[in-house]
Amino acid sequence: MQRRKIALIGGGQIGGTLALLAMQRSLGHVVLLDMAGGVAAGKALDLSQMAALVPSDVDLVGGDEAEGIAGADVCIVTAGFPRKPGMDREDLLQKNLVVMRQVAGHISRYAPQAFVICLTNPLDAMVYALYKMARLRKQQIVGMAGVLDAARFRTFLAQQLGVSRRDVTALVLGGHGDDMVPLPRFCSVGGIPVPQLVQMGLLQQSQLDAVVQRTRKGGGEIVQLLGTGSAFYAPAQSALEMAEAFLLGTHRLLPCAALLEGEYGVQGLFVGVPVILGQQGVQKVLQLPLNQEEQTAFKQSVQSVQRTV
Ligand code: 2OP
Repeated sequence: MQRRKIALIGGGQIGGTLALLAMQRSLGHVVLLDMAGGVAAGKALDLSQMAALVPSDVDLVGGDEAEGIAGADVCIVTAGFPRKPGMDREDLLQKNLVVMRQVAGHISRYAPQAFVICLTNPLDAMVYALYKMARLRKQQIVGMAGVLDAARFRTFLAQQLGVSRRDVTALVLGGHGDDMVPLPRFCSVGGIPVPQLVQMGLLQQSQLDAVVQRTRKGGGEIVQLLGTGSAFYAPAQSALEMAEAFLLGTHRLLPCAALLEGEYGVQGLFVGVPVILGQQGVQKVLQLPLNQEEQTAFKQSVQSVQRTV
């Protein structure tokens, strides 16, 4: 069977975890690219030995040679610096822009047709930079944030209600910053819309507000706890689900940072919105009927993205 090729650009914690998850699911051959070539090669070798036990037949290689990504079907970009405690994602802007310039060069040279998923922060600005510098089509590139932010929302809401996370669906839109927009009206528990749970007295409005706030600061909470670096397990799983939607053509409806050209009144920015992901990449951007309050919050988040861009 012809296997697909997954290039992981950045061999840090998220890149390494992505390699593990992709191997466990036998999603495709994995190439791990990092400036620290030994680290990338070491992780790939370790994982290829783990693959004997899983078992999985995909190849895993790593190194610092950019041509290793040649012909990749998917490039998942995690290269760049993570936050330190007390930093905003925006504090990484200058340093990570330099990294994106280099990554864009590699993608346009070796994998110009790949579907690209960017995770590097500040997310919405970095995906925009990558789109421009690698000269990609808009269907061909997204940023990963909404899937992760929604997973955080689901987790906190499930904990609050004492129910399984599996039964909670959630939607978080806007930029991947502290003013991201969790949308309780578009979240449900076992099919019951969250505002209905509040009306039924099963959830206090103050508890819901606290869940929203904790979601917004979910990344920072983990940065504080880790002391060095940022979250990696949930970000890796989130990106993997997006890659899988493309590789398997499953038409998942997921919140992604996608290029808006008039949708939601936004022109020429990448912002988190519901997207259908399939074998063509971004197949459709869904426009939700937001109410006044939601629109105001979305607009504020977009303004933050605009400033960083
Ligand atoms: C986070 O929110 C890595 O930005 C990512 O944890």
